[in-house]
Amino acid sequence: MLTRTSLGWIGTGRMGYAMAERLAKGGCDLAVWNRTRDKAKPLEKYGAKVVNHLGELSTKDILFVMVSTYEDVKEVIGKALVQGKPKMVVECSSISLEGSAELREQLAAKGVEYLAAPVSGNAKVIKAGKLTFVVSGPKAAYETARPYLDMMGTGSSYVGEGELARIAKICHNVMLGVVIQNLCEITILAEKAGMPRHAFLDFLNKSVMGSMFTRYKTPALVNLDFHVTFTPKLLRKDLDLGLEAGRRFDVPMPLSALTRDLLQQMIGHGMTEQDFSTLLLMQAKASGIELKPENKEVGDGLSS
Ligand SMILES: NC(=O)c1ccc[n+]([C@@H]2O[C@H](COP(=O)([O-])OP(=O)(O)OC[C@H]3O[C@@H](n4cnc5c(N)ncnc54)[C@H](OP(=O)(O)O)[C@@H]3O)[C@@H](O)[C@H]2O)c1
Repeated sequence: MLTRTSLGWIGTGRMGYAMAERLAKGGCDLAVWNRTRDKAKPLEKYGAKVVNHLGELSTKDILFVMVSTYEDVKEVIGKALVQGKPKMVVECSSISLEGSAELREQLAAKGVEYLAAPVSGNAKVIKAGKLTFVVSGPKAAYETARPYLDMMGTGSSYVGEGELARIAKICHNVMLGVVIQNLCEITILAEKAGMPRHAFLDFLNKSVMGSMFTRYKTPALVNLDFHVTFTPKLLRKDLDLGLEAGRRFDVPMPLSALTRDLLQQMIGHGMTEQDFSTLLLMQAKASGIELKPENKEVGDGLSS
């Protein structure tokens, strides 16, 4: 049954590529489009078809979308649905409640089912099979899409109708921002007090405060490998979505606001092209120390 459903995939950036790769490797009937075609090309070796035009995905049973912002989502779905319509759209990018609701309305008017299905994890997490989804929309549509969501990770949490998944994801990423900032603060504090970063993080990761996140960020913080997993600007987008939601629901979010501005400071210094965990470098600078890679082999908690 899994191979009889035709799947379309829009967006093979860091996340989209790794997600689509799991579907292709799972033997799904998958056609893929990416604005920069070359990034999608390697999926061909797993049996995916890379198409040249969005319109070629318009009549798929399920159309997945994984791009950057709501503006981008609107643009690609608009172009994909010019010539026809899929049975269902599963939108996985991190976007606002309002954007998601607008999209639901537009798709409903065309008779297309819609699931909001943002994710938790980065490309490495996806490769390790540990991506998770939070999903909202019609329950029956969820049951149809569920086997494919399962194929991309460790499963999904269905949280109800409408755009509820969006608020869950926004809350999640606000936590991501606050936690990385705090993790950088305490790692620099430990180092300035005389402790190697790897020793401190080893303790933290084994403690009740350790998490999959603190573990998989440890190699970056110890060895200063800041290859992008998630860009500072995309994290800023999510903190902004969180603050907007806070205003809409009259919820004060003082820690999130402060974190957003610390991140903005980093972006203002031109630090936009590396990973968001370069917040560590900002913290070191503000603490008057110069960081060096420790060149220690430390686990990321994912590969075992
Ligand atoms: N990275 C993470 O750890 C992570 C985790 C969870 C959720 N997310 C969310 O997942 C989404 C994707 O993140 P990512 O890290 O994969 O970003 P990314 O690597 O920057 O990829 C963005 C993708 O969107 C496409 N795109 C952007 N604007 C477009 C437009 N106007 N028209 C057509 N295609 C467009 C890009 O195409 P090109 O290749 O042509 O540029 C690329 O395929 C974001 O909403 C992000 O917040 C990311």
